[in-house]
Amino acid sequence: MLDRAKRTINGALEMWRRVASASQVRQTGRHVTRAELAAGLARLGVAAGDTLFIHSSLKSLGYVEGGPLAVIRALQDAVGPQGSLLLPTYYLPGGTVRATCAMTDYVFDPRRHGTHMGRLPEAFLASGAIQRSIHPTHSVSAWGRHAAHLTEGHHRAPSIFGAGSPWQRFIECEHAKVLGLGLSMGPVTFYHALEDAMGDAFPVPVWEDKTALLACLDHDGKRWEVPVRPFDPLVAQRRIDQPGRADLRDYFQREFDAAGLRVNAQVGDAASWCIPAQAFFDHLRRLADEHVTIYATAAQLAARPIAHHKKNRPV
Ligand SMILES: CC(C)(COP(=O)(O)OP(=O)(O)OC[C@H]1O[C@@H](n2cnc3c(N)ncnc32)[C@H](O)[C@@H]1OP(=O)(O)O)[C@@H](O)C(=O)NCCC(=O)NCCS
Repeated sequence: MLDRAKRTINGALEMWRRVASASQVRQTGRHVTRAELAAGLARLGVAAGDTLFIHSSLKSLGYVEGGPLAVIRALQDAVGPQGSLLLPTYYLPGGTVRATCAMTDYVFDPRRHGTHMGRLPEAFLASGAIQRSIHPTHSVSAWGRHAAHLTEGHHRAPSIFGAGSPWQRFIECEHAKVLGLGLSMGPVTFYHALEDAMGDAFPVPVWEDKTALLACLDHDGKRWEVPVRPFDPLVAQRRIDQPGRADLRDYFQREFDAAGLRVNAQVGDAASWCIPAQAFFDHLRRLADEHVTIYATAAQLAARPIAHHKKNRPV
């Protein structure tokens, strides 16, 4: 009873906070329309038939008329009925993979659990006509032509980001692209696809030894035990998405620009970027061979100055 009252009060407070925050952006941000967003996506090279994996900051776009749903509609317009969208609708009640693995009573339920990945993934989940993968920490959601294929079988994949996962299926799609809306090169899950593909051959030991089995329900309520191997917290501390690793984010940005793989453009008010997935993966692999990974030390970056390779320009 007390718990329910607490949840109701917290929900009301959060709603109030959100209204105040949106009103602040409405007053201070430039007003951006769905048509303007579409024009920005076209400048990024997003085209009909593309499959996009999208990481986003809604606030960075300016004040979007119509809210996050207008952004989703603009993305759907840009890729059209032959295209697909994939968003991170991860649910991590422990805050990290490791802490979530330690929650003995946790059972992921895609019908009940939302996402901790921001307003756009939240709105995408609520938008209908999406498919959601079954995974206790990294459930993704997809819309469009490949939605069912991209999200199918995540709970049977031996690792979160490897064979049989949405990431491997995404890379295999024609015209697959990773899109960052108003973000640096930090919060990009795609990096982990290389780690899981290379396994022990990846030059950094990123995982803890023990793989946990976490419980999930599928869309019919059937229970599954899904393997999840947490990241080593000491290694994760020096990862590209950590606040102290602006050097690594800057290096990756300059590296992918110099390699001609990153298309940069404004979407609304947000500096945004787009990289073709297969070329992204291949280039990460080449960098790993030269000991440049999302965990690289300052000395490792200094030992590999960025060169310009013109031949990789995306089409
Ligand atoms: C953390 C992160 C989501 C924060 O970005 P953000 O723009 O502040 O947050 P959201 O995208 O959730 O957008 C919410 C904000 O949009 C703003 N907003 C509300 N209505 C809006 C509108 N109509 N137009 C524009 N902005 C609006 C509000 O200020 C709101 O802030 P609040 O949370 O204080 O209410 C972002 O930096 C990030 O990391 N995104 C990637 C997440 C991800 O994919 N992670 C996986 C990689 S491993």
